[in-house]
Amino acid sequence: MEHRMIRAAEGQGCDESSSDFVDVLLDLEEENKLQHSDMVAILWEMIFRGTDTVAILLEWILARMVMHPEIQAKAQAEIDSVVDSDRTVSDTDLPNLPYLHAIVKETLRMHPPGPLLSWARLAIHDTHIGNHFIPAGTTAMVNMWSITHDQDIWPDPEEFKPERFLLQGEDNVHIMGSDLRLAPFGSGRRVCPGKAMGLATVELWLAMLLQRFKWMAADDSGVDLSECLKLSLEMKNSLVSKAIMRNQE
Ligand code: HEM
Repeated sequence: MEHRMIRAAEGQGCDESSSDFVDVLLDLEEENKLQHSDMVAILWEMIFRGTDTVAILLEWILARMVMHPEIQAKAQAEIDSVVDSDRTVSDTDLPNLPYLHAIVKETLRMHPPGPLLSWARLAIHDTHIGNHFIPAGTTAMVNMWSITHDQDIWPDPEEFKPERFLLQGEDNVHIMGSDLRLAPFGSGRRVCPGKAMGLATVELWLAMLLQRFKWMAADDSGVDLSECLKLSLEMKNSLVSKAIMRNQE
């Protein structure tokens, strides 16, 4: 197939050690074999769903780091206490960085890249829920953004406070879909299949970006938190910031 021919032309061959996701799809056999169009659909989903969300979440987190220098400094102190200065933070360090994890959770609460879940229900009869009239034919979706900004669920919902996620026991909110106060990857049958990979990627990138650089506003205009709902919930105006090498501070 085309992909293999390009590989062969590049002289890379297709041995196990260099095989990638496309090779795995091409190697599926018998009843697992996929049509070309299905492979294109899967690759599109994985590439699009997996890059857009991760990039947008990182941008929101960096915006928050610029706005809250004391929180940024606390995360950097945590990284410095866990990682020797002569090496780069790695994924094996992540379990030892609870404050960094809390920052990611708090950003997912305030700026969920996927604010509307496709966990939809169709009203087949006219009905009332409380004072609301729901006509037959209405599709109801879960508005995760609204839940994560609800002051009956989250004290001071408009305040960026990673500390709220350092609580232990019952107060510890799990974000992988078991706790509907914060389900930024959805929940149930249509939950995000890339959630573990997405979270690990964002945490590792953030740890590396904070270990190396101090993030500051580029000018006096500050950070604009206006939102814009496209395929994901993006910053309406992209973050512009200054990154200063930390060992030159
Ligand atoms: C921080 C990163 C990510 C966030 C916040 C996120 C969030 C979400 C959300 C909210 C949904 C919809 C759930 C629903 O509608 O009920 C979703 C679906 C999906 N995500 Fe992610 N995602 C992330 C990373 C990834 C990655 C890395 C991949 C793939 C490598 C991925 C692949 C998908 C796919 C294929 C779906 C559709 C699942 C379906 O419709 O059944 N996502 N994601």
